[in-house]
Amino acid sequence: VSPREPHVRDLLVRVDRSHGHALTRQLEEQLRNAVRSGLLAPGSDLPSTRTLAEDLSVSRGVVVRAYAQLAAEGYLDLRRGANPRVRLVERSEAPPVSPSTGEVPKLRYDLRAHQPELSTFPRQLWLRSVRHALLIAADAELGYIDPRGLQPLRVELSDYLRRARGVMAEPDRVVITAGSTHTLSLLARVLAARGAKTIGFENPSHWMLHAVTRRSGLTPVGIPVDRQGLRVDQLRSSNVGAVVVSPAHQFPTGAVLSAERRAALVDWARDCGGLIIEDEYDAELRYDRAPIGALQGLAREHVVYLGSTGKTLSPGIRLGWAVLPAELVTPLAHELWGTIVHVSGIDQLALADFLRRGEFDRHLRRMRTLYRRRRDALVSALVDRLPEMPVSGIAAGLHVVVVLSSIEAEKSAVERARALGIAIEGISQHALPGYNGPQGVLIGYGGIGDASITAAMDDLEGALRPNR
Ligand SMILES: Cc1ncc(COP(=O)(O)O)c(C=O)c1O
Repeated sequence: VSPREPHVRDLLVRVDRSHGHALTRQLEEQLRNAVRSGLLAPGSDLPSTRTLAEDLSVSRGVVVRAYAQLAAEGYLDLRRGANPRVRLVERSEAPPVSPSTGEVPKLRYDLRAHQPELSTFPRQLWLRSVRHALLIAADAELGYIDPRGLQPLRVELSDYLRRARGVMAEPDRVVITAGSTHTLSLLARVLAARGAKTIGFENPSHWMLHAVTRRSGLTPVGIPVDRQGLRVDQLRSSNVGAVVVSPAHQFPTGAVLSAERRAALVDWARDCGGLIIEDEYDAELRYDRAPIGALQGLAREHVVYLGSTGKTLSPGIRLGWAVLPAELVTPLAHELWGTIVHVSGIDQLALADFLRRGEFDRHLRRMRTLYRRRRDALVSALVDRLPEMPVSGIAAGLHVVVVLSSIEAEKSAVERARALGIAIEGISQHALPGYNGPQGVLIGYGGIGDASITAAMDDLEGALRPNR
C-alpha cells in the first residue's frame, strides 16, 4: 500500500516568542491540552510537520520534536507518509437499552403520511444540475443574493407553475424559501407583526403547520372540513383574517375542495379582505383523477400559494416557493432576509437547471407511476384483509385513510402498530381543538418498497383489528 499524501490541515495553536518556554515546549503543552480536553478528537489528523511549521513560522525541527514527545506519551500515532493522528482511546460501550424500558422497537415499516420514496431520488441528474450550477454561476451569485431568490429559478418556476398548476406566477411575485413550513412561518410572522392574533386552519390539518404558526405568535383556529373540503360558512363566522387550505388534496382527509366551495372561499376573501394560504404540498401526485388547478389562478391578489420540493423530489433538499399578492412580496422577502438572509444560491441554480431540462416533469411522471402501483397494492391488501373498514382519500398523495369507529380504536391501532415496529399516524394527531369529524389512521405508502406492502399489511391487520 502506498503511503497517503499528508493533508493540509488548519490547527488552532500559537507560539509566543516573548515567552520564556522554548517553542517546542509551548507547542507540546498546547497539543497535549487540546487532546486531553477533547478539542482534538481521537482519530483526528494533525497537520504535517511541514504545514504546521510554516503556519507557526518556526523551524520544522520544533514541530518534529513536539510530535515525537506526544507520541512517546501515547497521545499521537506517527505514521510514515501520512499525517500524525490523535490516538484512539478505549471506550466502554454504552449499555444496551433494556427491553423493559418501554423503548420503541426498531422501526420495521415507516408508514407515516409525509414520507416520499427517497431511493428513487434522481441523484445523477441532480448532480448534473448542481455541476452545471457551479460552472455557470456568476461570481456575484456566490455572494449574498436577492432575498427573494435568483432570477433564473423564479423564471423557471413561474413557467412551470403556470403550465402545470394554473398559478399566475410572474417571476417578481415568486420568493424562494426553504420549504412550505418555512414559508408559512415567515408569513405568520408578517401577519403577527400587522396585529393578527389568530390564523385559520382546516380541521384536521398537518400538526407541523400549526406548530410553526404558534411559534410565530399566532393561535391556530380549526375550521371543520367535510367531503367537499373546508366549511366556508364556518370560516365566515370564525373571525380569522387568514386561512391555510389544501384545496387540491386536503391533508389528511384527501377531500377535494368542490367548485362551489372554491367560489365561496374566494368570495369570503374578497368580501372581508381575507387572505387564503394555499398549501400545494402534493398536488402533482394524482393518480386517477383530472388535475385540479390551483385556487391562486382565480384570485391572485387574495392568495398566497405555497409550493415545495418536499414531496416531489425530497424533503431534505429544503427548497420551496411562495407566489404572493403584490403587496406581500417585499414584507415576506424582508422577513426571510431578517432570519436566514437567503436560500443557497447554488441549490437554486441547480433546481432552475433541473426544471429547464425537463427533469422535474420526467421525475414526476416516473413517481406517479410508481406511487399509483403502490397505492393499488396497498388498497387491495387492505380491502382483502379488512373489508369492513372504509378506505378513503386514495385518489392522490402519498397516504390513504382507514376510518375507524372511535378515538379509542384509533389510539389503540397506532399503539399496537408501534409495538410491532410500524409507524402510522392517527387523524387526531392533526386535529385542532373542537374537532368532531371521523377517527382513523393514515397509512403512507411513499416510503415503503412495493415488495414489502403485503408483509406490512399482514402485520398491520392485527393492529387495526385487535380483537380478531
Ligand atoms: C400537508 C403538508 N403541508 C406542508 C408540508 C411541509 O412541507 P415542506 O416544509 O417540507 O415543504 C407537509 C410536510 O409533510 C405537509 O404534509
